[in-house]
Amino acid sequence: MRSDLERIRQAALADLERCEEGAALEEIRVRYLGRKGELTAVLRGMREVPEAERPAIGELVNTIKAEVEERIDAIRRRLEDVRLAMSLAEERLDVTLPGIRVPHGHLHPLAQVLDEVVGIFVEMGFGVEEGPEIEDDYHNFEALNIPRDHPARDMHDTFFVTDDRVLRTHTSPVQIRVMETRQPPLRVIAPGAVFRQGDDDATHSPTFHQVEGFLVDRAITFGDLKGVLSEFLRRFFGPETRVRFRPSFFPFTEPSAEVDIGCVMCAASGKQADGAPCRVCKRSGWLEILGSGLIDPNVFHFVGYDPELFSGFAFGLGVERLAMLKHGIDDIRLFYENDLRFLRQF
Ligand code: PHE
Repeated sequence: MRSDLERIRQAALADLERCEEGAALEEIRVRYLGRKGELTAVLRGMREVPEAERPAIGELVNTIKAEVEERIDAIRRRLEDVRLAMSLAEERLDVTLPGIRVPHGHLHPLAQVLDEVVGIFVEMGFGVEEGPEIEDDYHNFEALNIPRDHPARDMHDTFFVTDDRVLRTHTSPVQIRVMETRQPPLRVIAPGAVFRQGDDDATHSPTFHQVEGFLVDRAITFGDLKGVLSEFLRRFFGPETRVRFRPSFFPFTEPSAEVDIGCVMCAASGKQADGAPCRVCKRSGWLEILGSGLIDPNVFHFVGYDPELFSGFAFGLGVERLAMLKHGIDDIRLFYENDLRFLRQF
């Protein structure tokens, strides 16, 4: 019997020696220590052991049991440690690693400039209106004092949708739409896309953006126009900006003026740092920035305002041009190519 027990002990320890995972360990425990296990089976044979030897055998069984149990516990603890170490290694978090940046989008540079322009006029009390991009001939031309067959239509390289419908060539038709439906006093700006056929180069695009502005009230003069536009330009380009009004012609304003600012590239000197003529203002020192004028009485007739009672001024400026001058961009196409290397600079 002793030799049986010794054999069981050896076998159990040898099995445990080879044991590498929890499930096998449990199997071993059941095989040797379980109720139907080998040691229990030996104990059942106690009856055949002479009485005198029984205590010693019983003690031996208990010793073996304790020894095997202890081994099992030790191995279980070791397996547990290994498992814990592995899962710690797997889940390790290096809090000193730099985080992964989530790329943030931002507004397109044209949208930023547009927002800034709109913001300045809103501060000056203007409200924002919009009109359709597909216009009828009446609003785009006729009511702006540009009759059919009038040579002034040559100024607009129009995209025709039908004989009577065009992609608006400017935002001025919004003047008509607003005045048709509302009475003075009015202070409105109207931003939006406009379309002109023709050149597609570094300074011309078939689609571009304008901000129209107009103000109608009693006794509005050219001085009001100069005041509002000078104020806008100094807020947009900086307080030192020089502003010049030059006589011009638009069918829907009389008198009309083009507004120039001192060239932002060469500080109005007309020359680059190396003495060569400034690329941007072509040595004149001035940059044309917007068209403007007092609203022509004929336009008031079209919308049913009495020109004896009301007067007003209007202006239109190009958003791309403002953006190019503000940021020193020399090719308008950069705004539409959506090259992220360009866009990310804003
Ligand atoms: N609509 C004109 C253009 O597109 C600009 C303008 C607007 C001029 C309002 C005078 C008054 O060129």
